[in-house]
Amino acid sequence: MEDVIIDCDPGHDDAIALILAVYSKKINLLGVTTSAGNQKHSQTLRNAMSLLTLMKVHSVPVASGNRTPLLRTLVSGVAMHGITGLDGAELPNPDFQAENLPAIELIAKLVSENPNEITLVITGPCTNIALFLAVHPDLKSKIKQLVILGGGMGVGNWGPTTEFNFKVDPEAAKIVINSGIPIVLAPLNVGFEAQLLDEDLKRIHKVKNPVGKTVAGLTDFYGMTFDLHWNFEGLPMYDPCTIAWLIDPTKFTSKKCNVDIETKGELTAGESLIDYYNITKDKPNCKVLFHIDREWFADLVLQAVKSFD
Ligand code: BDR
Ligand code: CA
Repeated sequence: MEDVIIDCDPGHDDAIALILAVYSKKINLLGVTTSAGNQKHSQTLRNAMSLLTLMKVHSVPVASGNRTPLLRTLVSGVAMHGITGLDGAELPNPDFQAENLPAIELIAKLVSENPNEITLVITGPCTNIALFLAVHPDLKSKIKQLVILGGGMGVGNWGPTTEFNFKVDPEAAKIVINSGIPIVLAPLNVGFEAQLLDEDLKRIHKVKNPVGKTVAGLTDFYGMTFDLHWNFEGLPMYDPCTIAWLIDPTKFTSKKCNVDIETKGELTAGESLIDYYNITKDKPNCKVLFHIDREWFADLVLQAVKSFD
């Protein structure tokens, strides 16, 4: 069983990642922290708490993160995720309180209590984790690993070569990627493959429990915004790749690569430079995921949705 903290900015695909984490017997969810990204910090906090309420999870501590990226103004993901960040679903009001401490202090507390045990999953901008590393450098070596959704090799979704999470806070992404902590990086390349096809979405629509109805509404909305901008056969689920990898890494292909983040480029700030052929001769700092068994993944999502009362 993997002890996990999820730092997220829900977000439609973050929501599915949370659902997989609560569902899986392989994941012990110790805490959830929220970042400003798909929506402002107060909204992503509320969304994470509403999702946990929906899943009847009341005992996992949730804490809010920074209001802005480290150096930049927040550019939110409203174009993909709507005004609430989770448009398309009616979510319950949170029925528990958020922790009375900031995200970085909740992470510090949990890491101190569970040294070398915690996998920190990041499905939003890296702001909170960069701040955590700056404020608590002594705890860096106590984190088992980071599993990050971000970047892309030769592809982008928020610019020709830039991915949203890294583009929102390039400086934070650079700090975290170069932190020296073991990292599993799920870039857009694998996220683009983790698609739910129409037949999968139809099966989800048949699940009539509250989680099923919510995921049906979320995927309807997310699908609509994808159709407006993209020409995919199905609906890519980026963030859940992180949890899916923790559940069964054998369903992915990967390669150890050196990765760095561009922070200065006028057009490319936030771009991830994934050195696939080790041109730089720099030491690999990330295990990069490239391919996923799509059918296994779609089935995992369905089983997770079905598992709730
Ligand atoms: C990332 O951007 C966000 O909009 C998604 O939630 C995901 O974390 C993909 O680029
Ligand atoms: Ca996200």
